[in-house]
Amino acid sequence: MRVLGYGMMGLRVGLFLALICIRISDIAAQDAAALQALTESWGNLPPSWNTGDPCGNSWEGITCRNSRIVGITLANMDLMGQLSGDLATLSELRILDLSYNQRLTGPLPPSIGQLTRLTNLILVGCRFSGRIPNSVGSLEQLVYLSLNENRFTGEVPASIGNLRNLYWLDLADNQLTGSIPVSSGDTPGLDLLVNTKHFHFGKNRLSGPIPRSLFNSSMTLIHVLFDNNELTGSIPSTLGLVRTLEAVRFDRNSLSGDLPTNIGNLSNVNELVLSNNALTGPIPDLSGMESLSLLDLSNNSFEATEVPRWIATLQSLTTLMMEETSLEGSIPDEFFNIPQLQIVRLRNNQINGTFGIGSSYSSQLQLIDLQNNSIGAVTVAPGYNFTLMLADNPFCQDNRVSLSYCNIQQNPGSSYTTLQSCPDRRCPSEQISSPICNCAYPFTGTFIFRAPSSFGNSNYFRALQVDILRRLQIFRLPVESVAIRDVDVDEFGYLNMHLAVFPAGIDYFNRTGVISLAFVFSNQTYKPPEEYGPYVFRADIYTHFEGRSRDNSRTGIIVGAAIGASILLLLLICAGGYAYFQKKRAKKAKQQANPFVSWDPQGTGGDVPQLKGARFFTLEELQKCTHNFSEANNIGSGGYGKVYKGILPDGQMIAIKRSQHGSMQGSREFKNEVELLSRVHHKNLVKLVGFCFDKGEQTLVYEFIPNGTLMESLSGKSGIRMDWIRRLMVTLGSARGLQYLHELADPPIIHRDIKSNNILLDERLTAKVADFGLSKLFGDTDQKGYVTTQVKGTMGYLDPEYFMTNQLTEKSDVFSFGVVMLEMVTARQPIQDGKYIVKEIKEAMDRTKDLYNLERVMDTMLVTNTSMLVGFEKFVDLALKCVQDEGMYRPTMGEVVKEIEHIVKLAGMNPNADSAAPSQTYDGVSGGNFSHPYSDNSLFSYSGTIPLTRPE
Ligand SMILES: *[C@@H]1O[C@H](CO)[C@@H](O)[C@H](O)[C@H]1NC(C)=O
Ligand SMILES: *[C@@H]1O[C@H](CO)[C@@H](O)[C@H](O)[C@H]1NC(C)=O
Ligand SMILES: *[C@@H]1O[C@H](CO)[C@@H](O)[C@H](O)[C@H]1NC(C)=O
Ligand SMILES: *[C@@H]1O[C@H](CO)[C@@H](O)[C@H](O)[C@H]1NC(C)=O
Ligand SMILES: *[C@@H]1O[C@H](CO)[C@@H](O)[C@H](O)[C@H]1NC(C)=O
Repeated sequence: MRVLGYGMMGLRVGLFLALICIRISDIAAQDAAALQALTESWGNLPPSWNTGDPCGNSWEGITCRNSRIVGITLANMDLMGQLSGDLATLSELRILDLSYNQRLTGPLPPSIGQLTRLTNLILVGCRFSGRIPNSVGSLEQLVYLSLNENRFTGEVPASIGNLRNLYWLDLADNQLTGSIPVSSGDTPGLDLLVNTKHFHFGKNRLSGPIPRSLFNSSMTLIHVLFDNNELTGSIPSTLGLVRTLEAVRFDRNSLSGDLPTNIGNLSNVNELVLSNNALTGPIPDLSGMESLSLLDLSNNSFEATEVPRWIATLQSLTTLMMEETSLEGSIPDEFFNIPQLQIVRLRNNQINGTFGIGSSYSSQLQLIDLQNNSIGAVTVAPGYNFTLMLADNPFCQDNRVSLSYCNIQQNPGSSYTTLQSCPDRRCPSEQISSPICNCAYPFTGTFIFRAPSSFGNSNYFRALQVDILRRLQIFRLPVESVAIRDVDVDEFGYLNMHLAVFPAGIDYFNRTGVISLAFVFSNQTYKPPEEYGPYVFRADIYTHFEGRSRDNSRTGIIVGAAIGASILLLLLICAGGYAYFQKKRAKKAKQQANPFVSWDPQGTGGDVPQLKGARFFTLEELQKCTHNFSEANNIGSGGYGKVYKGILPDGQMIAIKRSQHGSMQGSREFKNEVELLSRVHHKNLVKLVGFCFDKGEQTLVYEFIPNGTLMESLSGKSGIRMDWIRRLMVTLGSARGLQYLHELADPPIIHRDIKSNNILLDERLTAKVADFGLSKLFGDTDQKGYVTTQVKGTMGYLDPEYFMTNQLTEKSDVFSFGVVMLEMVTARQPIQDGKYIVKEIKEAMDRTKDLYNLERVMDTMLVTNTSMLVGFEKFVDLALKCVQDEGMYRPTMGEVVKEIEHIVKLAGMNPNADSAAPSQTYDGVSGGNFSHPYSDNSLFSYSGTIPLTRPE
């Protein structure tokens, strides 16, 4: 009986499990069917959406979990059609991003409210229309709701107030009408969104007053953007209760009434834009808005008032706009000393008295516009370097001819010069040159910054480019470089800039690449530096998924046929001549090809490399000392080729770098390289012992450095204990090696690939810089002395300026060296776990604290004995100087060496001791008790690899 009972139970459980399985596969099938239905209403789908299982990993833009569809991200695929109600069946869907598909039209189906797991609903920049269905209020898990840049009409659904998890609410740039919904009784409203940080409602047709109850002190909003609407009434004083606010825009509405005085309490606001309304009354004292960077009150009906004195106390101010604001009296002198001040626009007021600007003013100043005021006298120190506009002032009536600032001038502030990248590079049609001169089909689009706090200059844009690039690379997107062009401020007060993102390693992005890039911007995963404020991105259509333009070929044929005939004729004429010259050239090239052709190892021939202290090896010799390049002797490899360890008959250990056939250079280049390397002798540089140029081999022979790389030592892999003193001595040694390359080698050598993997340690822990001068050493040098070959280097160490401009100077090595110094402090790789060492240190750092408050990011080994860390802060200061964004602000290697010598002396060491091992006993200064490196053999464990390679 009992047995039977268990049997029945087992059967039931089995049946139950089977049912679940059927149910799951059933539901999965439903997902597939829903997707099928969706695709029937869409055109221009990715080709991969044809066959097989949507969850089988091959459908671009589909993410699954347990055979259920959880994500549809198809941003920027140029999809067309409508969104069908079948979508609602995808009950596990969490992310839906269809942004930038400008041919998606029609309404949002109300059934979308059934997707109760949805967290991100992102439909930026499509052509959806109709009302936003009330059912969006049922999407309780929603965190991101971005419906901006569509054609939605009707009212803002009050039900959005139910979305308690909402972080981001963006309905900007639609045709929404009606008033702003707030709760009353059982009706929800936007005032309930106490967890939401972003209210973006700009560029709609919202009307009526701003409800008092829209804001209260429970809210945590940071961006409140209601610009470019038709709002009336006054700005409620409840706004002043939202202390978290950072950007506030109510400009370009029809607001009236007095400004509430308590907005002066909003001490976190960076951007306050209230221009182009009909605000009245006095301008309140805003000196409590300590973070204010952009203040725009232009074109209102304020009471006539003296130029407010409190403006000069706003120490973060970069942009002040108070055009046509009934200002009177004179401008206080201290006004222009605000340290970051860039732009001051005060035209069309009644400012009188003397306008004076002496020799001290903000170094950032770009523009002062005081046209059409009542200024009677001007004192300006000569040599000022900003744009000054004073036309239509009494003073200028008498001086119109003689003074340029008295002429009516074009408004210079609305478009900016941007960076020239690679101007001379010519690319095949539709391809564009990247900043580092590769032709490709970039992903492009426009950034629209809706509340920028400063309008910047090309340095800002350069920094932004670097920021975008770094972030995209940290997100692991296959991006080579980015470029910003065509920056301007439009009629809505938005800062627009065109962005091009270039693919890495190939000349186009595939669909996965485009979708991921577009999502980074549509989901706001990329966050720009603070001064740019909130943005939207508008992607351009991308059509080069296969590396070709789709429409291109057809026009090509038509045009081709038309001009084909005439070109054929021309070609025939040219062909004869061309063949003749080709022949001649080939002959000449052959003669030039091999400079070693008449050269024999005994050194009596003609074109002998001029070697100093390096010798020639035959292939047989090298084969002998490496057991015929046996695998056992192979100690590393890289893009350049393989590296072998060997022992010469005299017992000397050598490292042989044997280039692969593919990576061989011309023999002339090889000869030059060998000559140059043989001339470089410094105890902190790995020494070239010789080379082999024999039977098609191009091989360099170096001294063997037994203790491996600095990176291995820092990571603890090599077993060498790197205490603070050793780190100082290794830093000093490698700095001296580099200084030699920059200042004493003839010609000077820029290393191009400084990293902890290229600094080797010998048996006395003397630092030896490796891998300098390899390949492209003689890259074409232009008139300015810049080396202008391909960007070489390793991510994380790469100088951002070099990356963007492709102009290589010694300062690029200084940057990389700074990164190595930060590695000394943290024992972390420059990019580790998606974090960039320079940023980490800067963020963690507090100069008022001991050890600059860096314990958290420091190598734990250093933290255990902080009393030893003499000169630590100076060391960090120096490292950060080296990694300044702009080369001109970085020290030279000579200066770096001097400063490290100074730190080494502070630490009680002799900077001229010849290794990282302390050569003198000392106590007191740092309480150290050091042993000679040889006295404790357990400190060392021999590491068999010596990466004289170029890990790619
Ligand atoms: C803010 O408004 C919400 C919704 O109207 C309300 O629940 C909350 O109590 C208010 N908080 C304060 C401090 O008034
Ligand atoms: C400037 O204007 C103010 C107010 O309109 C007036 O009181 C003052 O006298 C004027 N100063 C000069 C120098 O004209
Ligand atoms: C303008 O001159 C000031 C002071 O003479 C200087 O500090 C500043 O760097 C200059 N700015 C520019 C953009 O050249
Ligand atoms: C798309 O490009 C990425 C990176 O370039 C690559 O890893 C991936 O395999 C490509 N996908 C397809 C389907 O070609
Ligand atoms: C979307 O962006 C937010 C940050 O803005 C980020 O936390 C989130 O992980 C992103 N979503 C996805 C799926 O990457």
